Amino acid sequence: MGTVISIVSGKGGVGKTTLCANLAFSLALEGRSVIAIDGDMGLRNLDILLGLESKAPYDLLDILDGRCSVGQGIAVHDTLPSLHFIPGSEDYTAKIDRRAFRRLCRWLGNHYDYVLIDAPAGVGEGFRDVLFCAQRCIVVSTPDLTAVRDAGRTAAIIAGLRQMRTELVINKVRKQMIKKGYLQNVDQVMDSVSLPLLGLVPHDDEIVIFSNRGGILPQNRSVAAQAFKNIARRLEGEDVPLASFWRK
Ligand SMILES: Nc1ncnc2c1ncn2[C@@H]1O[C@H](COP(=O)(O)OP(=O)(O)OP(=O)(O)O)[C@@H](O)[C@H]1O
Ligand SMILES: [Mg+2]
Repeated sequence: MGTVISIVSGKGGVGKTTLCANLAFSLALEGRSVIAIDGDMGLRNLDILLGLESKAPYDLLDILDGRCSVGQGIAVHDTLPSLHFIPGSEDYTAKIDRRAFRRLCRWLGNHYDYVLIDAPAGVGEGFRDVLFCAQRCIVVSTPDLTAVRDAGRTAAIIAGLRQMRTELVINKVRKQMIKKGYLQNVDQVMDSVSLPLLGLVPHDDEIVIFSNRGGILPQNRSVAAQAFKNIARRLEGEDVPLASFWRK
């Protein structure tokens, strides 16, 4: 029985899609079966980060509305055969049948170790659709005060809507900026958001480069790749110390 995990944030652009793609890579590289779903209707872009642009002829809405079978709607990664993907719809006006979406996610949860759903920014309908399907939730924030406040609000809304395990990932961490007091430090973010910490990801230009190429970060030498791998291992229940970039 797999786990359905939704990746959400309050503020946009904090790194939900980046985390979703890189967790999918890390888990698949560890031999887990993973399906990533783009729940960001209208503004989808998980396909680019996964290197699966135009690889799937159908999308999530086609599956939910019965225009294709589940099997027809799933794309398979070229080099990681245990990584599968369902794109979001380009139709920003699309209304999802929430119960059908949840049924699909539960069904996929019986066939994959992990179902990762990339949410749209904010706390609107799309966020609620994605939350409704989840068994577990990751709230992403950066150490910027605006993102932290929105993440705290989002965590409170989740707690009011659903009882589920919810954890925090702090992305785009810049140690020197934090040391100088320009950004919130990790304790301040955790206090404001009031969620347990699942991991830290450094600010790293290599993430931008590989995201635009749809490529997998070099696992051996990339500090960011190590951070994503640590988060993946914590999802697996392992006790992993914080990434070395933060401890040094
Ligand atoms: N750790 C990081 N270091 C440097 N750049 C990053 C990092 N994480 C994400 N980015 C960059 O930040 C931008 C936004 O990332 P991403 O699209 O993952 O955010 P998002 O939360 O999914 O955005 P949206 O709310 O629009 O869906 C991208 O250009 C991405 O490459
Ligand atoms: Mg996104």
